[in-house]
Amino acid sequence: MKKVAVFTSGGDAPGMNACLRAVVRTALYHKIKVVGIMHGYDGMIKDEFIDLDAKSVANIIHRGGTILKTARSQKFLTLEGRQKALANLQKHKIDGVIVIGGDGSFKGALEFSKICSIPFVGCPGTIDNDLIGTDFTIGYDTAINTVVEAVDKIRDTAESHDRLFFVEVMGRDAGLIALRAGIGVGAESILMPETKTDVADLINRLKSGRKNKSSKIILVAEGDEAGGAFAIAEQVKKELPDFDTRVTILGHIQRGGNPTAMDRVNSSRMGFAAVEALMKCEKSVMIGIVNKEVAYTHFENAVKHIEKLDPDLMRMVDILSL
Ligand code: F6P
Repeated sequence: MKKVAVFTSGGDAPGMNACLRAVVRTALYHKIKVVGIMHGYDGMIKDEFIDLDAKSVANIIHRGGTILKTARSQKFLTLEGRQKALANLQKHKIDGVIVIGGDGSFKGALEFSKICSIPFVGCPGTIDNDLIGTDFTIGYDTAINTVVEAVDKIRDTAESHDRLFFVEVMGRDAGLIALRAGIGVGAESILMPETKTDVADLINRLKSGRKNKSSKIILVAEGDEAGGAFAIAEQVKKELPDFDTRVTILGHIQRGGNPTAMDRVNSSRMGFAAVEALMKCEKSVMIGIVNKEVAYTHFENAVKHIEKLDPDLMRMVDILSL
């Protein structure tokens, strides 16, 4: 392993920079050259390769976003795009690649491995935490803390006006942001794609739980099958017109901001482990942290979305909510 390339891909996540810093510094320690690829797979196709040294990653551990920029590449979905990307990796004499991204990025790497024998290792960079093979993805802890901070503020105004709030959080396919942040803010209900949302039942529970608390906060994952926060709030308003109801969509605020200490530490461990995995001739594996230990999961298994939620956690959510 003489030269590795590293890039970030998919939605940015706080901690991607910390991971990149660890990759660069670990590789340099082992006398391996490092190049960064700007704009994810798009940059691999367009030949946006830049040399990285220890200084290029100075003072980035605390910064959200990604200094390498990122993209959701449409061109890489085509064989022609992948062929161009391969030609560029060969031109730059790359011996191994580290991709920091989510399941789409790993699916892309898996497809690429059909024509490209250069090994790829992944670090799970997504705020959604929807990957098998790691307890926490890069950015998840920061995102749920951002949600908790925002919803605590919403709780103040909800409590002052005796209001019902529907707060929509990110999670196109997964409700894990809604779940943990919902527990953290003491949400009265958490609606996510992994569990069946019964709006009639929610209405009944809102009616009967009304005496307990003057404010109510329902966290809705954007991918919930009953629709987004606005759609569900409309249905509830029809049945409960005397509730003073409001909707807040938190949106991309959840993807930004300085990474938490936990995200910085996990990201650093993953970047460090990714370089060592390439040195051990691993390929097509995602680095995760499972029960505090570094773990490898083949891309094929890592991409599967977690649909089974911890039943004990779900029982607790039920007991503590409305
Ligand atoms: O990367 C995951 C995610 O945060 C999803 O939860 C969300 O649906 C999506 O990104 C939004 O992506 P974009 O910024 O491309 O609209």
